[in-house]
Amino acid sequence: MENEIKALLKKRNAILLAHNYQPPEIQDIADLCGDSLELSRKAAQTNADVIVFCGVHFMAETASILSPEKTVLLPRRDAGCPMADMVTPDALSYKIKELSSSKKTIPVVTYVNSSAAVKALSTICCTSANVVKVVNSLDENEILMVPDRNLALYTASQTEKTIHFWQGYCPYHDLLTADCVRMVKEEHPDAIFMAHPECRMEVLKLADVVTSTSGMLAYASKSSHNSFIVGTEVGLLYPLKKANPEKQFYAASISMECRDMKKITLEDILKSLETMSPQVKVPEDIRKPALSAVKQMLSL
Ligand code: 13P
Ligand code: SF4
Repeated sequence: MENEIKALLKKRNAILLAHNYQPPEIQDIADLCGDSLELSRKAAQTNADVIVFCGVHFMAETASILSPEKTVLLPRRDAGCPMADMVTPDALSYKIKELSSSKKTIPVVTYVNSSAAVKALSTICCTSANVVKVVNSLDENEILMVPDRNLALYTASQTEKTIHFWQGYCPYHDLLTADCVRMVKEEHPDAIFMAHPECRMEVLKLADVVTSTSGMLAYASKSSHNSFIVGTEVGLLYPLKKANPEKQFYAASISMECRDMKKITLEDILKSLETMSPQVKVPEDIRKPALSAVKQMLSL
């Protein structure tokens, strides 16, 4: 099946992108693996005619926003992100009005884990890798962040600015508690604890490093330490172990498994390349304002 996929990728002049949480067999055949920021950059730079996005819906939308001339395939239409679904354009418009005055509209910093329609209403986008830089780049001192409350609270702890936050969260990162981390730390007292900023503040306070998925990969490879507790979706354990076979990695909680990130199979990829579906295409009236928010971030 891998050979069939590779042959079809070549025939269609297609590139296969996989998020760091995708299943091992998909990461192994991907042209590029990475975090949300890396993948959105790579999607914009590729000369391929077709992007096969192995991730979730908002990631394929971001690829379509940046590359409208390319065909973007999401091998499973139902691979979504529950956190992205926690903010709708209507609810965001209402909140913007509530927090704005007649003289000034509140700037909105939107995590890339959001729909294109929500991005279209935003001032600038951010990812877990660049959120503090993005917030500090704005002139205004009062900012609305959507949809992740944990990412917003973490950002508030790293900046002087006043952050209004949305009550969204990642159901998998948010289930990790400080008590759970303390237990795992007791089992592995010498391990470095790396946490994703989608985790709760009580968890981030116990972390030695707070960073994105690719930030964790880079940190673990460079570090002189030999063992790590990984506070993010369990899919990251595979690339961590692959890149550092001599080091030990322990999940902070094995319950942190995103169902949507595990929906796509090799069969789905093959079928998608054969049928050139399901396609994700952002309509122009949404794409243009969404592009402006994404470009603003990429220009930083
Ligand atoms: P990053 O890979 O950008 O750290 O994002 C984590 C995530 O939850 C993606 O859905
Ligand atoms: Fe969304 Fe969380 Fe799954 Fe990432 S891990 S896609 S944020 S639900």
